[in-house]
Amino acid sequence: MAEPAARPEGTSGGIVIKDDWPGYELDLFSYPAHYCGDLDCVFIPHGVIMDRTERLARNIMDDLGDHDIVVLCVLKGGYRFCVDLVDRIKSLSRNSDRSIPMRVHFIRLKSYLNDQSTEDLHILGAEDLSFLAGKAIVGTGKTMETLLKYVEAFRPKLIKVAGLLVKRVPHNAACLPDYVGFEIPDRFVVGYALDYNEYFRDLTHICVISKSGKMKYKI
Ligand code: HPA
Ligand code: MG
Repeated sequence: MAEPAARPEGTSGGIVIKDDWPGYELDLFSYPAHYCGDLDCVFIPHGVIMDRTERLARNIMDDLGDHDIVVLCVLKGGYRFCVDLVDRIKSLSRNSDRSIPMRVHFIRLKSYLNDQSTEDLHILGAEDLSFLAGKAIVGTGKTMETLLKYVEAFRPKLIKVAGLLVKRVPHNAACLPDYVGFEIPDRFVVGYALDYNEYFRDLTHICVISKSGKMKYKI
């Protein structure tokens, strides 16, 4: 089985969004009126997310050869990315001479309160697993490390992780996904299923939450 292309050390392999990227003005796009005032900018528009996901799907197809795929969707933040990624893999598979069987499982992880990572990671509801993909965001990499240990116990033939976003955090993630959509600055983003205390999952773009948004939905 082919490995994804080697990455230069210290890089994630995703599209790099620089620290000084200001995002797009909110009013250039549409977004739910109930979030007016709660966001600073559109950081990654939905269409760009979809185009990047399509390319990741192709890379995954190219690497996977004839393996069956068991997709493990990491809820709740990964659900949009996972659905769209599986959709793209399915349509590429339909249009090729290689139809890849896919099963989808779900696992639920929770480690954030407000915008802070908490020590205790809860893994809720998992079944028998043999392959892995589909997390929306990797910050410290702690969650991903725990998850990998957990999945390895099922002795899958191969484990690959797809992450839509990797954050450039001060002590960079020890553990990076094999497939990365975007590498982003260390800012708290919401939308496309990513939440702040369960809000903003219903936003299609990935946006930066504003100070007043954080205050409004703080627990
Ligand atoms: N947004 C939402 N959830 C998260 C983030 C983020 O920036 N980082 C880790 N979990
Ligand atoms: Mg969350």
